[in-house]
Amino acid sequence: MTTYAHIVGWGKYIPEKVVTNHDLAKIMDTSDEWIKSRTGISERRFAGKDESTATMAIAAAQLALDRARITPSAVDLIIVATLCPEHVFPSTACLVQDAIGATHAGAYDLSAACAGFIYALSMGTAMIQSSMAKVVLVIGSETVSRVLDVQDRNTYPLFGDGAGAVVLQAHETPGGVLATVLGSDGSGAEHLCIPAGGSKLPASRETVDQRLHYIKMNGREVYRFATRVMGRAAKQACEKAGVALNEVDLFIPHQANIRIIESASKYLKISENKVFTNLNKYGNTSTASIPIALCEAIEAGRVHNKDKLVMVGFGGGLSWGAAVGQWGVPMPYKQHGWWYKSLRWMVYRWARVRSATIRLSRWLESLLPEENGADPYTTPVKEKHKE
Ligand code: ACO
Repeated sequence: MTTYAHIVGWGKYIPEKVVTNHDLAKIMDTSDEWIKSRTGISERRFAGKDESTATMAIAAAQLALDRARITPSAVDLIIVATLCPEHVFPSTACLVQDAIGATHAGAYDLSAACAGFIYALSMGTAMIQSSMAKVVLVIGSETVSRVLDVQDRNTYPLFGDGAGAVVLQAHETPGGVLATVLGSDGSGAEHLCIPAGGSKLPASRETVDQRLHYIKMNGREVYRFATRVMGRAAKQACEKAGVALNEVDLFIPHQANIRIIESASKYLKISENKVFTNLNKYGNTSTASIPIALCEAIEAGRVHNKDKLVMVGFGGGLSWGAAVGQWGVPMPYKQHGWWYKSLRWMVYRWARVRSATIRLSRWLESLLPEENGADPYTTPVKEKHKE
C-alpha cells in the first residue's frame, strides 16, 4: 500500500520589531526608492533580544502541531532547516524537541541556506513514504539579522527574521507532497556565504576585524543563478508529479526578490493571481520564507482542499529545490475552542517541567557514588592502576 505525506499542520512566528526602508536610510547610504524598485521589499522584521532561531522555531512548531491536533509525543522526527542555528552544535532541532516535549522524536538540523525548507520537506516526505516515520515536523527558522553587516548596503536591506513550520503525517489518501526536485552547484559557493566561523576560518581577532562572520553576497551572480534555476526546478517537479503547469492553483516561491519571482512566473506561464508574495512585509527570511508564505496563503483563504501547490527555493550552496503537492486538509480550517487551547497550553507547560525534572535528576545522579565502589569520574587514573 502506498503511503502519502500530507501537510496537516502549519504555523509561523514573526518577530514584532518592524524595520522599514526609511529606518535603514537613516543608518546607511540607501533609500526606500532603491530598495523597493530593486527588490520589492518595504520593510522586514528583526528579532528582539529574547528571540532567537530556537525560540521562533518552537513557537511556529507548537502552532503547527496545535492545528494538526497532534500531541508532541507522537512526533517521530524534527528537522530544522536554518543558516543561522542557535549554536554550531547541539542542533537547534534538539532544543525544539526538548521545549515541546517531543519525547519520541529524533532531531537534526539541515543546512541548505534558503533552499533548506524544500530540502527538509523532501527528507520528511521520504521518511514517511519509506514508513520510517509517521509524523515529521519540518521547520524553517532564521535570525539572519544576527549575521548581517550594517556596513554592507548590498546585503543588509534584503533580509529579515522569522520562522515557519509544517507537520507532515502519513496517510493512505492519495495527495500530499507528490514530488520534489533538489539541486546543487558548489562551484558557486563563494557567491553567497559566511566566510568565517567554520573549520576553514575559525573565529579569531582577524576574522572579526575583517567582518568575515557576516553574509557576503555577489548579488548579480545570485540573481542570474536564481532566474536560471527557479522556473526550471518548478517545471521539473511538476513533470515528476504528473501535474501540468496550467493545473497549478498556487505558486509559493522563495521570497527573495520580486523581480526573480516575476521572471520565474513568466517562464512557467503562471498568472500573477496564482503567485503568492509577502516579501514586501518581511524581506527575505531565508529558509523560513516558504513556510511563512504558505501559512499566510492559508490565512488569506488562498488554499483549498485538493489545490495543487508548487513551492520553490534557491540560495547559498549554491542550492535549489522545488516541491509539488496536493492539499488534503478540508478548508476553511476550523479554529479550536478555548478548552483545546488551554489543554495545549498545559501540554507545553508540562514539557518545561519535564525538562527541568530530567536536568535535576541528571544532576542528582552525578552526585551518587558508583554502585560497585569508586566513582570513575572522580577517581584519578593513576590511583586506579596502583590497585
Ligand atoms: N542602496 C543603494 N544603492 C545600492 C544598494 C542599496 N541598498 N545596494 C547596492 N547599491 C548600488 C550598488 O553599489 C551599485 O552601485 P554601482 O553601480 O555604483 O557599483 C548599484 O546599486 C547597482 O547594483 P546592482 O548590483 O546592479 O543592482 P541590482 O539591480 O542587481 O540589484 C540586488 C541588486 C537587489 C542585490 C540583486 O542583485 C538581487 O536581488 N540579487 C539576488 C539576491 C538574492 O536573492 N539573495 C538571496 C539568496 S537566498 C540565500 O541563500 C540567503
